[in-house]
Amino acid sequence: MNTPADRQPVVLITGAARRLGAAIARHFASHAWRVAIHCRHSLPEAQALFAELGGSAKGHLLLQGDLLDEQFAENLLPQVLAAAGHLDCLINNASEYQRRPLKDISRMQLQADYAINFTAPFFLMQSFRHHCRNGNIINILDQSISKTDPGGGAYAMAKKSLRDATEACALEWAPEIRVNAVAPGLVLPPPGVSMEKMQRLLPRVPMQAAVNLADICRACLFLAETNSLTGQIIYTDGGLHLHNGDLGEKSRRQ
Ligand SMILES: NC(=O)c1ccc[n+]([C@@H]2O[C@H](COP(=O)([O-])OP(=O)(O)OC[C@H]3O[C@@H](n4cnc5c(N)ncnc54)[C@H](OP(=O)(O)O)[C@@H]3O)[C@@H](O)[C@H]2O)c1
Repeated sequence: MNTPADRQPVVLITGAARRLGAAIARHFASHAWRVAIHCRHSLPEAQALFAELGGSAKGHLLLQGDLLDEQFAENLLPQVLAAAGHLDCLINNASEYQRRPLKDISRMQLQADYAINFTAPFFLMQSFRHHCRNGNIINILDQSISKTDPGGGAYAMAKKSLRDATEACALEWAPEIRVNAVAPGLVLPPPGVSMEKMQRLLPRVPMQAAVNLADICRACLFLAETNSLTGQIIYTDGGLHLHNGDLGEKSRRQ
């Protein structure tokens, strides 16, 4: 963590009002971290989470803005530093999942997929490098970076670029800044997709189960607090990244 023992560490989590981001925020807060909760549209959920964690009395922060707004994104870390005094960890969690066949994808859609899933997190990483003397960054990826996902659109391609940036920056920014990633598998269905539809995919998962949110939270905290780790990608996916189709089902039948 590289923080003096008497100083409470601070984590900034993007897109933290709901779902995975909110679970990670709760986990870090329960382990004595101060949490800067970032949200865009989900302000009521973010305010409820901020209150649940104890609000400013516990040293938590709440920030709202669109990460595609360059001015907001550039000012985000300076804002956190001005209010919190220091920042020890950035978790790039905000994302947008769109499934669209590459044969039909427009230039605008391709740019939009890259903007939120690669460009915005990359420049937050760079901002962390410029503004924080030391600390660590965790990028939330997706197990789909390990394979080719036809029809998966540009989401997976952008996450693969973020995986490459994780490794490149880990090497370039050591020893001051550690950069790691967590690559979840099937956790929660994307907005608009039913839980039943996601459950139909579970037979493909070697461990035959959806990923527990708590596992992702623990992986993030482990990376944040383990000083020897950099350039690591932890797949929290029940082994899904190990095959590229129905190999799991085939091997079980043998
Ligand atoms: N869910 C899964 O099963 C799964 C599987 C593999 C990987 N992952 C990865 O895990 C992370 C979290 O997943 P999730 O399903 O919880 O994510 P999500 O609900 O799809 O999105 C998280 C948040 O991102 C924020 N966001 C999107 N566009 C933004 C923008 N332009 N500016 C600022 N914030 C923006 C949204 O904030 P507001 O609501 O405030 O607008 C949203 O609540 C993502 O990186 C995702 O790729 C998830």
